[in-house]
Amino acid sequence: MTETVLRPFAEQAYAHELAALAAADDRERPPSWRLSPWAVVRYLLGGTLPDGTAITPKYLGPRRLVEVAVATLATDRALLLLGVPGTAKTWVSEHLAAAISGDSTLVVQGTAGTGEETIRYGWNYARLIAEGPSEKALVPGPVYRAMADGKVARVEELTRVPADVQDSLITILSEKTLPVPELGLHVQARPGFSVIATANDRDKGVNELSSALRRRFNTVVLPLPDSVDDEVAIVARRVGELGRSLALPVPDAGLAEIRRVVTVFRELRAGRTEDGRTAVKSPSGTLSTAEAISVVTGGLALAAHFGDGVLRPHDVAAGLLGAVVKDPVADRVVWSEYLETVVRERDDWADFYRACRELAG
Ligand SMILES: Nc1ncnc2c1ncn2[C@@H]1O[C@H](COP(=O)(O)OP(=O)(O)OP(=O)(O)O)[C@@H](O)[C@H]1O
Ligand SMILES: [Mg+2]
Repeated sequence: MTETVLRPFAEQAYAHELAALAAADDRERPPSWRLSPWAVVRYLLGGTLPDGTAITPKYLGPRRLVEVAVATLATDRALLLLGVPGTAKTWVSEHLAAAISGDSTLVVQGTAGTGEETIRYGWNYARLIAEGPSEKALVPGPVYRAMADGKVARVEELTRVPADVQDSLITILSEKTLPVPELGLHVQARPGFSVIATANDRDKGVNELSSALRRRFNTVVLPLPDSVDDEVAIVARRVGELGRSLALPVPDAGLAEIRRVVTVFRELRAGRTEDGRTAVKSPSGTLSTAEAISVVTGGLALAAHFGDGVLRPHDVAAGLLGAVVKDPVADRVVWSEYLETVVRERDDWADFYRACRELAG
């Protein structure tokens, strides 16, 4: 099954790792958990098991953050993963749900149009009209199902959800019950139920979380990678994985190019060069790690299909330009200033400078 879909769920893609961890795991598991908190952290951060099974690191970042996140869920408090775009909030939440519940699919995608029925339940109207309200006519939403089964539900982009709908989560999180007045019953959450929500720093003010709801969550802020080396490692790892699933040959000599893309992103993000000597302007976009991953993956496809299989400057230049220049006027100025004042001055970046100049026309 995992061979034939474009993107298997985490619990499918890493089924062998999860099974090996469960077998090796002799620590206490909270009720309904597939693994102990220790093994969940190990699943996220990677390592080698006594039987030799290699657990690939999913998240590259501070261990403590992952421990706090897992401990939060073990205490039946809900978890809010907060951070700027592309800091792996969605990724971490999927893997946590996969490791804890063996199921990462109970997801509510938060948008301005998310209604209460998406979070709680809806109705199969044909049945409702034919038979009247009954449990058979009820279509449980992801949170409902997570409560009934003692699993982790995920709410993506919580701050985009309208405030009154957010409020419906308050009862669920504090009382651990979900009333179904039409049927005169209450769904009571089974042990193992919890919620992982993600929210984006940049969306602040769209729908600020009410303080009542915020209090129900323990917040963990996922940071941008500390250093160029860390970020290069994240990008290289993900690009390798994505390249394999897209059947792209992974070029060996790509690391230098990846480092260059990451350096450009970090310098533009920070507003100064890595050596701290030159100030540069920042473009309007976010230039996240996630975008660096797609720039490099795109370049890899160009290199594999239209080049000689080696990732070269002109393979990444177009994607880079697209990522940086979101606003066609202001960002173009920022980009060409960066090209002329920084890129041009670097001796070993001459071919990259040329590739970018060609595109600028
Ligand atoms: N520290 C990290 N460790 C591992 N992977 C990372 C890290 N940072 C980013 N990534 C990768 O970046 C990609 C995008 O991450 P994800 O979509 O989870 O970001 P997000 O924080 O949810 O962003 P958004 O706010 O836009 O929803 C994932 O493929 C993930 O592997
Ligand atoms: Mg996300």
